[in-house]
Amino acid sequence: MAGDPRVQEVLERALAEVAGARSTSDLEQVRVRMLGRAGQLTTLLRSLGAIPAAERPKVGEETNRAKAEVEAAIAARLEGLKAEEHRRTLAADRPDLTLPGRRPPPGPVHPLTRVTEEIIEVFEGLGFSVAEGPEVESDYYNFAALNFPADHPARDMQDTFHLSADTLLRTHTSPVQIRTMKAQRPPVRIICLGKVYRRDILDATHSPMFHQVEGLAVDKHITMADLKATLQLFAREMFGPASSVRFRPSFFPFTEPSAEFDVRCFKCGGEGACRFCKSSGWLEIGGSGMVHPNVLRNVGYDPEEVTGWAFGMGIDRITLLKYEIDDIRLLFDNDLRFLQQFGGLPGR
Ligand code: FA5
Repeated sequence: MAGDPRVQEVLERALAEVAGARSTSDLEQVRVRMLGRAGQLTTLLRSLGAIPAAERPKVGEETNRAKAEVEAAIAARLEGLKAEEHRRTLAADRPDLTLPGRRPPPGPVHPLTRVTEEIIEVFEGLGFSVAEGPEVESDYYNFAALNFPADHPARDMQDTFHLSADTLLRTHTSPVQIRTMKAQRPPVRIICLGKVYRRDILDATHSPMFHQVEGLAVDKHITMADLKATLQLFAREMFGPASSVRFRPSFFPFTEPSAEFDVRCFKCGGEGACRFCKSSGWLEIGGSGMVHPNVLRNVGYDPEEVTGWAFGMGIDRITLLKYEIDDIRLLFDNDLRFLQQFGGLPGR
């Protein structure tokens, strides 16, 4: 039996429009036109009351079937359109692999790292190798073996962070001298670089954590003249060819004789009328001396047979001087405005 022509007509139009929808929003409009509150199929259903009562059930059923068919067609078309739109988006977003890549901006090398690397380069060039030691040390390596007698006031020179009665954060890199000499026979030529800790108040030139480089040379016939020549060469490499070093008598329990050493102020050339060197013409860098015979004995060396020198300097202080930085705290603040002033090293 042929269907009701009004239902047929609306159904065909609806299916044609669904098939013709080019996008999901097109399709939505078709849905509203056909199935919305004032849609053509909805209106048809509502108008059932106006047709003869005998025809009503048949036409009603046909209209409902047509409605279900249109709904199914819309759902199927929606899937298809969505998939198509997804494919189109992917195609539009496809990365162009022929474009040049974006280079991440290179991070600058921290000034402390730069100076550390420079120090290593100078001393490796002189035949020294790099030794390492722990930051958590025993009293023995940090003090006793270095000829600091128990309860001797010299221990107060380096106010210590104790972890227990016997363990501490090393106050200097000198314990690495002991560790190295205990592990090898002379000749010894090492440097050791690393963090050290003291209960110093943080200010422009002091930090409770700072860095030292230790140097140690032990062999037959090693003299204080070798020490001075080595430090002189180091100063020229680090601060420029006009640089020079002077010794001032000092005291360390582990060296005898002992000397602090300064480099000529490279800002005023040693003239002295200068804020940088506090008008002294010299900049303090570190301590040094001939290894004390007791220290040599403590590691099993014979002081009649070998002699040695050692030095220790503050890497942070050298960095401040070299880059004319007036506050040690800048080295540890991690302020990018400061750090970005130090470009990368060649080859980095
Ligand atoms: C020593 O630590 C000795 N171990 C050095 C030494 C080694 C002498 C071998 C003889 C033989 P001193 O306490 O002077 O020495 O420290 C050495 C350097 O560390 C100082 O010259 C200074 O440059 C740096 N320094 C000391 N305290 C601080 C601090 N709180 N902040 C930054 N740098 C510091």
